Amino acid sequence: PSTPSPDGRRILLATPRGYCAGVDRAVDAVEKALELYGAPVYVRKEIVHNKYVVETLTRRGAIFVSETDEVPEGARVVFSAHGVSPQVHAEAAARQLQTIDATCPLVTKVHKQAVRFADSDYDILLIGHTGHEEVEGTQGEAPDDIQVVNGPEDVDQVEVRDPSKVVWLSQTTLSVDETMKTVELLRARFPQMIDPPSDDICYATQNRQGAVKAMAPECDLVIVVGSANSSNSVRLVEVALEYGAAAAYRVDTAAEVQPEWLEGVTTVGLTSGASVPEILVREVVESLRELGYPEVELVTTTNEDVHFSLPKNLRADLKATG
Ligand code: F3S
Repeated sequence: PSTPSPDGRRILLATPRGYCAGVDRAVDAVEKALELYGAPVYVRKEIVHNKYVVETLTRRGAIFVSETDEVPEGARVVFSAHGVSPQVHAEAAARQLQTIDATCPLVTKVHKQAVRFADSDYDILLIGHTGHEEVEGTQGEAPDDIQVVNGPEDVDQVEVRDPSKVVWLSQTTLSVDETMKTVELLRARFPQMIDPPSDDICYATQNRQGAVKAMAPECDLVIVVGSANSSNSVRLVEVALEYGAAAAYRVDTAAEVQPEWLEGVTTVGLTSGASVPEILVREVVESLRELGYPEVELVTTTNEDVHFSLPKNLRADLKATG
């Protein structure tokens, strides 16, 4: 329930925001694995890029490691939503690890596209951030055929073997607008470059950016809840600024909201990245209320109804135990 503020101070709450179907599935996979097999359950990398989620699962018995060689031989390990390269699967098999692959199906789709184009001898220009786990996983599908293009600044350095066999693919969590700029520049260099068979930037990334674009022009300040290593959360801050918010900041939790950000601010926009539990948004709403923003209005641009079922082997084990 919201109460109008006499001086018009209000919160605009972007919808959709927060958990996407891939994150929901990955977090659920770790929770179900803990219930079914008991602690510890190893998880390679952060299951999703959110501090709170990682800390909560750690308390419940998940052990986060950076590589599979830190997992005891034969133990159970969950692969994160960002995906892994075939090399990681091979390393896990060599150590007889029991794997639960929580790679988002929309990341797997990009892996499959990469394999298909590499098999047909294409040069693949993968637009994405060097060092991001998703990019490492996708690149690992065809390391000799994929080069990473971080953004417009990388376009001049791209070299291809045959300009008539070039395709671009992308990380799932990029800024839609900036990716299109990079694509235009790449196309100016390689006019025969083909587009991915379907959108690589996923529905959740696009929808969260869409909601921010709709509310940003009305906002004196936009607060994005999300962790610093969450690509899609960081993009939301950039999108808010590009689309007219006077200021925009990312916070992990309500405790990071600085009261001085609110000086002279009437309208605060609030959203959260795809890896962010709703409780963290609710806490920001509460602290904004205390700081004099009692009214909350939803800015809804679309309704999402996407669900992914749990990884197959986990589903089978859950079924077997009733
Ligand atoms: Fe998947 Fe997109 Fe979420 S790729 S994990 S649905 S941000």
